Formats: sequence, structure tokens, C-alpha cells
Amino acid sequence: APLKKYNTFGIESVAQQLIEVTNNQEIKEAIEWAIDKDLEPIFLGGGSNVLFTQHVYPLVIINRVTGIKKLDEDEDFVWVEAGAGEVWHNLVLYCIKMGWGGVENLSLIPGTVGAAPMQNIGAYGVEIKEVFESLEAINLASLEEEKFTNSDCEFAYRESIFKKDLKGKYFITSIVLKLMKKHKVNISYGAIADVLAQEGISNPTIKQVSDAVIQIRASKLPNPAEIGNAGSFFKNPVIGVDHFVDLKKKYPNMPSYAQPDGQVKVPAGWLIEQCGWKGSKEGEIGVHKNQALVLVNYGQGTGHEIKDLAMRIKTSVNKKFNIEIIPEVNII
Ligand code: EPU
Repeated sequence: APLKKYNTFGIESVAQQLIEVTNNQEIKEAIEWAIDKDLEPIFLGGGSNVLFTQHVYPLVIINRVTGIKKLDEDEDFVWVEAGAGEVWHNLVLYCIKMGWGGVENLSLIPGTVGAAPMQNIGAYGVEIKEVFESLEAINLASLEEEKFTNSDCEFAYRESIFKKDLKGKYFITSIVLKLMKKHKVNISYGAIADVLAQEGISNPTIKQVSDAVIQIRASKLPNPAEIGNAGSFFKNPVIGVDHFVDLKKKYPNMPSYAQPDGQVKVPAGWLIEQCGWKGSKEGEIGVHKNQALVLVNYGQGTGHEIKDLAMRIKTSVNKKFNIEIIPEVNII
């Protein structure tokens, strides 16, 4: 089966077998089948954080476990469970409609609910870990269902245990979020405050924050339905303070965010732009014109070409700034 519509980069790889699973029983059967046939499966949600570099993959299993339901509530909070195959943005819209706060800043992030904790999705001042209660996942070795609490997931910036020690060992089936009935909106991120100010909104609702985020994302980030991409290709690097002070002397305009541990996070998009890559185009692939952190496929680009471009970008950033930038996208 062609995989183009199953990855937001729009890479034309092929799966020899493609299985869509809609419940735990089907997942277990698919995994048993893979073990029996000695195939190593690739698990996909929305395919929005993956770059295919091979032409053929023997087995791709797509998570279509859906359903959203309220599990519990008290005076202040509501616990909502969502199937890992739900589209993340649909869950966000549902929560906003129900008046449940906490995910509005995470509006319009491509991908599925199951992929969200995997990389601790974050945007506009909020990370999912702030509202995350727990998840359920199937252990691929034992086929047992296991529960992971927030602390079990070992969340960090664009990281979780599922990208580290437990990489490739679990299939996430559902998550539970703890959301606010009494809202506390987060408009700490400058661009949100700017949009709200322009519209004369001083006491925004969660819906208004969501709309502002949608407006900002639409102005900066390419729509994967139009131009293939997987959002930020690299993570923002964190550097030591001495290194930062040196660079700041040379580049006084360099944006930066101080970290709680004293180190400094620098936007990779800025570093890449300074190296001259922003808006560059090489045949069918390139670097987005409004956000240098986003690599794009204009149609017929291959995963191999994008990976090669990414490695050249990485090398040039390293040469100019002595900073190593690490891909956020899962290159397989
Ligand atoms: N910048 C440039 N040139 C660029 C891009 C950015 O100079 O081409 C500068 C901006 O001027 C700004 C700074 O870099 O001062 C930060 O830019 P932006 O606000 O666009 O955010 P980012 O750090 O590039 C991160 C996330 C995004 C998320 C935004 C907003 C990562 C790897 N990326 O990008 O997440 O939407 O913040 O919170 O942390 C994603 O993960 O796929 C993603 C899009």
C-alpha cells in the first residue's frame, strides 16, 4: 500500500502490509501476526512526526483507536479519556466546546492523541505534560495492557520514556487528561498576547486563545495538506551559559530563553536562518520561507533527500555556532 497519505511529509514509500487497528484485540492480533511472520512493524498515528527514508517497509500498523469520554469530575477538574487514534486537534476542539481548559494552546498541532505524550507536544507556552494524567499502552513483548502515570512517562522538552528507554516497546492505546473547569489561560507567549491585543480582547476565553493560536500557526507554519512537512524538524538546542555569552557578543540579536537549570535554549529556527537556509529550495524539497525550522516537500521529494538536506543544515549550524542541533522528527 502507498504510504503517501499516511505521512504529513507526503513521502511516497510503500508498505508491503498495512493494518489499521481499531481496538485492543485487533492490536494484539496484529502484533502476534507480526511476530509469527517475523516482521518488524512500524507504528503510525497521524504520521506527522516521521520521515520515511526507505522505499519499502514490510509492515505498517496504523492506530485507529477512537473515542472520547469523560471519566470523572470534581468541582475544579474533569478527567477525559481519548483513544490514541483520535486526531489531536479534534480532541482540543471537543474540550473547548465542553468548556474544559488546558489544551487550547495546543490547538492545530498535527497528529494523533497517542503521539502527543510520546514527544510531550508543546506550543505557545504549554506542554501536554501539564494536563496529562495517565495513559494505557500494550507491552509489545507480553501483550499485557499497562498503565503509565505522568511521572512514569518521564516527560521533558520534546521527550518521554517512549522515545528513550521504552522506544519501540509499547503501543499507546488511550490517554487521560486532567482539564480545568475553572480556566486559567496562558498567554505568556508574546505572539498570543499580540493577537489578542489587536482584537481588543483583555480577558480571553479558552476559545479565543485557541483561535489566536490557530491564527499564529496558520501564518507561520505550512499546512501539511498543501505542502508536505512534519513541523519543527529539529529540537531547539540548549547550551551552556559561557557558550551563550560568547555567542551573544558576536550576535547581539540572538533570541534565547533561560532554562531553570541555568542553561540557555536557543531557537534552532534562528540559527538555521542565520546560516542562510530560510526559504531555500532544492528541486522538490526545501526550507520553509516563514519558519526555518520546518523542512518541506513540495511534492515529489524523497525521504533520503530531506534527510541529506537536514544533515547539511546541521553541519552548517555546527560550523557557524558550534551548536549541535538534533532532529525532533523520527527518521526511519
Ligand atoms: N526564528 C527566526 N527565524 C526562523 C524561525 C524562528 O529567527 O525562521 C526566531 C523567531 O523570531 C523567534 C524564535 O526564533 O524569536 C522562536 O520562533 P517560534 O516562536 O516560531 O518558535 P520555535 O522555537 O521555532 C517552537 C516549537 C514549535 C512551536 C513554537 C511555538 C520546537 C522544536 N518547536 O518553535 O513546535 O509551535 O515553538 O511555541 O520546540 C513542532 O514541534 O513541530 C512545532 C511546530
